[in-house]
Amino acid sequence: MTSPSRTRVLTGITTTGTPHLGNYVGAIRPTVQASRDLSTDGFYFLADYHALIKCDEPARIQRSTLEIAASWIASGLDPDKVTFYRQSDIPEIPELTWLLTCVTGKGVLNRAHAYKAAVDKNNAAGHDTDADVTAGLFMYPVLMGADILMFKAHKVPVGRDQIQHIEMARDMASSFNHLYGEHFVLPEAVIEESVALLPGLDGRKMSKSYDNTIPLFAPAAQMRKQIAAIVTDSKAPGEPKATEGSALFQIYQAFTSADETAAMARAYADGIGWGEAKQMLFERIDREIAPMREHYQSLVDNPAQMDKILLAGADKARQLATPFMRELRHAVGLRALSSGTTSNTIKETKTALPSFKQYREKDGLFYFKFVDAKGQVLLQSLGFATPKQVGIAIAQLQSIPTVNMPDVASFIQSVGTASWDLIQENLQVLRATTVVK
Ligand code: TRP
Repeated sequence: MTSPSRTRVLTGITTTGTPHLGNYVGAIRPTVQASRDLSTDGFYFLADYHALIKCDEPARIQRSTLEIAASWIASGLDPDKVTFYRQSDIPEIPELTWLLTCVTGKGVLNRAHAYKAAVDKNNAAGHDTDADVTAGLFMYPVLMGADILMFKAHKVPVGRDQIQHIEMARDMASSFNHLYGEHFVLPEAVIEESVALLPGLDGRKMSKSYDNTIPLFAPAAQMRKQIAAIVTDSKAPGEPKATEGSALFQIYQAFTSADETAAMARAYADGIGWGEAKQMLFERIDREIAPMREHYQSLVDNPAQMDKILLAGADKARQLATPFMRELRHAVGLRALSSGTTSNTIKETKTALPSFKQYREKDGLFYFKFVDAKGQVLLQSLGFATPKQVGIAIAQLQSIPTVNMPDVASFIQSVGTASWDLIQENLQVLRATTVVK
């Protein structure tokens, strides 16, 4: 079933909360659509280990896992055509997390957005830097790296806020590959530009944190009531209305064809009353959702069947994860004492590394160069007034994720002259190699 020629697409859904229309339009619907593409091999999973970082209520974790799993299947995800599983059913994932932890720079994790945001908030409030920050939040990107690298995913569809995590996963993969041989595929983030960002009841982005959501599978009567609560201006029926900035219009657009949208735009211009527009919106959404709602309800009412579906998915996933983990354990040296190489041969195979050289010129200024393993100069810096500035520039250069090519290139331009792609390659080697002493 899993032919290697197919592009492997993988994504995770954190199991906190109840899916809402924004999740449906922004993630579930496009992903289910994409999962039908026969040239791809889809891996979709419930990231319940990740959920523990945000939620310490066992009943909510459990309920949310059921609701999210049921939502995806009711929305058309076919567990026979894709691999659909629960992260915590794959013990190889936390096992791989540790191997990746050991090739990930702590400094890289210091710069992860979610952790940095927590730290910035603490600092602004005058609290201890790490107050209320769990090591789980800090390690979040490594667990996510394990999710992705375990299944050799080529493409990872995510929201913009997750791009950094995919870059980190790439860096973990190349560090590991450099140290232990080519085991991991370097994943790429896929950002769907065309997917609608759905506004919520108050016009801001629909999000649980704004408390402005419309649950995806609420009973029809409740959905109608919530749609009636979408904010509008106070224009009376008969007065022309603006589509621009109208949350109602944007939500309508996310569910209709271009023709239907154009017809609604004309109705706005002709002064359709808000009550009538809301009724049209409700009917249009309900037309799409109603058949799935029944399926959803039957799945939620039968959790044992859901368990079965997810365990079958985990079984499928572990057919890859179990042998791969065995290969990885062997690669790092966790293997039978009767097999393998001696430490002498390891030393012999170690090659020279690229490095940074710092020095002072006759002009009194401080410089650095970046040289490759053969001593060829890849980057010649400009002069700096102090050695400290040189140190900062080097640290900065080393800290840019090597996959972030525009940043590396523009940084290099600001400190000197060089061929940046050679630098990128060598930085990767250098970083991969200095991580583990
Ligand atoms: N962090 C992702 C989110 O919040 C969820 C997630 C966990 C994920 N593991 C993943 C997404 C692996 C893609 C790949 O959206």
